Amino acid sequence: MTARTSDIEKAAAVLRAGGLVALPTETVYGLGADAENPAAVARVFEVKGRPPTHPLIVHIGGAEHLGDWAEDVPATARLLAERFWPGPLTLVLRRGRRVPLEATGGLETVALRVPDHPVALALLSAFGGGVAAPSANRFGSVSPTTADHVRAELGDAVDFVLDGGPCEVGVESTIVDATGDTPSVLRPGGVTREDLEAVLGRPLAVHSTSRVRVPGQHPSHYAPRARVVLVEPEKVVAEAEQAQELGHHVGVFLPPSLADAKVKAHAVVEVPASPAAYARGLYGFLRELDLQGCDLIVASLPVEEGLGLAIANRLRRAAGPRPSGTDTV
Ligand code: TXA
Ligand code: MG
Repeated sequence: MTARTSDIEKAAAVLRAGGLVALPTETVYGLGADAENPAAVARVFEVKGRPPTHPLIVHIGGAEHLGDWAEDVPATARLLAERFWPGPLTLVLRRGRRVPLEATGGLETVALRVPDHPVALALLSAFGGGVAAPSANRFGSVSPTTADHVRAELGDAVDFVLDGGPCEVGVESTIVDATGDTPSVLRPGGVTREDLEAVLGRPLAVHSTSRVRVPGQHPSHYAPRARVVLVEPEKVVAEAEQAQELGHHVGVFLPPSLADAKVKAHAVVEVPASPAAYARGLYGFLRELDLQGCDLIVASLPVEEGLGLAIANRLRRAAGPRPSGTDTV
């Protein structure tokens, strides 16, 4: 952890005063406000350019505070909280009285999580309340995984940036609807479906389209400026070179199976073979290709198991709706 005690005190004071603090978590950086201060929460929506009906995640200091923020917590939800908190798991539960409707976009449910990052936990402890925090990026764009990403994207719109170093997990938390007795995944993320199923002892549904509003599930979310095109791994090189010849500045996500391939493109990212390393690097790679001036990114989907499920979900969302007649996967 790189933040000092004085930084944490300062960040807590900013939150108490109704200001915005960018805070590190193990997944991505969050844009935090006092969850119980509707005016501060309203500023989060304004800075992000996010529609006010899209609910935020409330970050709390520990599973022992669950009862303060949620009501009628099912036994299954308690089990998941005990097993995975602190960690990259968000539980959607019935809204407790401490949570204003502004933070939930008007919903009677609330998304709660305890982040597994020493700086975030120190801030939550110093502040004492809940911190409503979406990812610290403009609505629809790539989430930040370093303090520099936040500064580059949000600049002076944030009152204080708490630097906790690069995020370890790199993709957002897994969101589980835990309001009923049969939980389901609303967004794949840092806790794998396999790990959740092992604890629950039964298969878990993953909803790609849910009845609740999950902006992460809309087309063109997590998107760099460059257009993202998804093809089968063995077509990545040919697709990239063809587009480059047509005058595009092409960035390539070279799959591990093609590690030594030579590609005539503007910029090449060698995708790490380990899903954990890929997840950690994903958003940084997308930002880097934007910085290098790419207007098109050619990538393929990883195997959709473990963290690969979350990575594939983000790449699909970044690519947006599929134009008909193309051979994207
Ligand atoms: O890892 C993460 O989850 C990061 C870090 C900062 O904690 N946060 C994050 O927040 O990804 P955000 O706002 O970018 O995504 C939160 C997602 C949104 O898709 C939102 O719709 C969903 O959580 N969500 C929040 N409250 C909900 C609710 N009551 N029901 C269903 N979905 C909800
Ligand atoms: Mg986000």
